[in-house]
Amino acid sequence: TLRWTGVKERTFIAVKPDGVQRKRVGEIVQRFEKKGFKLVGFKLLKASKDLLREHYWEHRNRPFYNRLVTYMSSGPVVAMVWQGQDVVKTGRDMMGKTNPIDSMPGTFRGDFCVEMGRNVIHGSDSVESAQREISLWFKESELCDREVCSNNWIYD
Ligand code: PPS
Repeated sequence: TLRWTGVKERTFIAVKPDGVQRKRVGEIVQRFEKKGFKLVGFKLLKASKDLLREHYWEHRNRPFYNRLVTYMSSGPVVAMVWQGQDVVKTGRDMMGKTNPIDSMPGTFRGDFCVEMGRNVIHGSDSVESAQREISLWFKESELCDREVCSNNWIYD
């Protein structure tokens, strides 16, 4: 029904190679779970440069583009889809700013890292980019949104 439309919002979150190596996967998953968001997609993979170039295509003319693609392909990443009301904006708030120096304590980047080129986590910046990124990283059949947890304990 219409009641659950906002609850179906999804975002794409990736724990970057430095985050995986530094063992932050558990805490990142835990904080999204604690908040009340639903995990609907999850995989560990070594992303190809082709996938990453497409993922970051809007930044292709930026000076950091190649370095960013190399960093993101330097080890496995954990790609996730999280679902819930306002999850795109809330996920961004939980991450902190792109540059860790601007990120408040209590955010992932504020707590876990010091440099933009090793900033631990990615999250979609809008509902539209979330849809694009989710379809780039996941097949529809890899996502599960019916089987986990009743919404009645999260939403009024
Ligand atoms: S901007 O300036 O607002 O467009 O930048 P932003 O959208 O925040 O960043 C785009 C992605 O590029 C990463 N980034 C960098 N990586 C390495 N070095 C530098 N200097 C740099 N600047 C930006 C930034 O982390 C964003 O990637 P994601 O994966 O979305 O965090």
